[in-house]
Amino acid sequence: MDVVTAPVLFNRKETESVRRLGLAYDALSRGARAARFVMLAFEDPSRHLIPRPFSISDVWTRDDGTVVTEFLYKPIGRVTGLMCGLREGDGLLVGGLLGNGFPFPTDGRRPVLMAGGIGNAPFAYQVRELAAGPEATDPSRIVLLLAGRSAADVWIQEDARAAGITVVEVTDDGSRGEAGLVTDALLRRLEDLGPIEAYGCGPEPMLRAVSDLALEHDFPCWLSVEERMACGYGVCNACVVEQRCDDTERGEGWFLKSCVEGPVFDAREIHV
Ligand SMILES: Cc1cc2nc3c(=O)[nH]c(=O)nc-3n(C[C@H](O)[C@H](O)[C@H](O)COP(=O)(O)OP(=O)(O)OC[C@H]3O[C@@H](n4cnc5c(N)ncnc54)[C@H](O)[C@@H]3O)c2cc1C
Ligand code: FES
Repeated sequence: MDVVTAPVLFNRKETESVRRLGLAYDALSRGARAARFVMLAFEDPSRHLIPRPFSISDVWTRDDGTVVTEFLYKPIGRVTGLMCGLREGDGLLVGGLLGNGFPFPTDGRRPVLMAGGIGNAPFAYQVRELAAGPEATDPSRIVLLLAGRSAADVWIQEDARAAGITVVEVTDDGSRGEAGLVTDALLRRLEDLGPIEAYGCGPEPMLRAVSDLALEHDFPCWLSVEERMACGYGVCNACVVEQRCDDTERGEGWFLKSCVEGPVFDAREIHV
C-alpha cells in the first residue's frame, strides 16, 4: 500500500453532526473513483493502533495546482474524535487509494444515487464524475436521493442542485424534505424514472432495503458497504461480507473481502 503523509488544508464543521476534512493528497493520480477509500492514521502511533477507512468525498484542483482530496466524517469514536482536533498544516498518514469504485451506468440507464447518513460521503464525487462523463448533456437525469435521520444528516444538496442534479431529500423525522425511508421515495418515482441503475451507500438496514428493492424490481444496483476494517489491503479478514450463492454444489458459506473485492458490490453478489 502506498502510504504518504498528507498536510491538512482545512477541517471544518459542515453540520451539527458532520465535519469536512481537506488534505493535500493527490487522489487523481492514484485513480480516484467515487467510493474508493483510504486508510487514515495519525503519525504518532501512541494515539491509536489501527488505521480507519474513509471514502474520498470530493477531489478538485486548486489554482496553485494542489490536488485537494476531501473527506466527510462523523465523530463517533476514538479516531474520528481525534480528527476533530486537526489543524491546517498538521500531517495525517494516508494509505491508498484502495478498493473499487462505483461503475458508470450501463445501456443509458438513469443513475439513481441513494445515500443514508454518513453514506452521503462518496456521492459528491460520483455526481462530479457523472456530470462530466455519461450525463454531461443533461445532469438533471442524475437523481440523488439523500436520506438521514434529520436535517443535520443531509448535507450535499446545495452543491448538487447548483450542478443541475435532481435532488430529493428524505428524513426519518420529516425535518427536511419528504418524511420516511429512502426506498419509499424511490418506489414513489420508480415508474416515472424509466430504466435505472442504482447506487447505495449508508447503514446496513438501508442497504438491505435498497438491495431487496433492486432484486424485486430487477434493476442493476451497486452497494458500497462499510464493514469494519483493520489492514485495508486483504490480509486480516476483518472486513468480510457473505457471498450469495445460487450454485448448490458449491454451497453457502463463502465470503468476500470488502477492502479488496469491494467496498462496491453488485447487490446480486452479496448478502447485506
Ligand atoms: C470503505 C469505508 C468507507 C468509509 N467512509 C467513511 C466516511 O467517508 N466518513 C465516515 O465518517 N466514516 C466512514 N467510514 C466509517 C469509518 O471508518 C468509521 O466511522 C471509523 O472507523 C470510526 O473510527 P473511530 O475510531 O472514530 O470509532 P471507534 O472508536 O473505532 O468506534 C466507535 C463506535 O462505532 C462503531 N463503528 C466503528 N466503525 C464502524 C463501521 N464501519 N460500521 C459500524 N459501526 C462502526 C464501533 O463499533 C463503536 O461502537 C467508512 C468505512 C468503510 C469501511
Ligand atoms: S481489512 Fe484486512 S482483509 Fe480487509
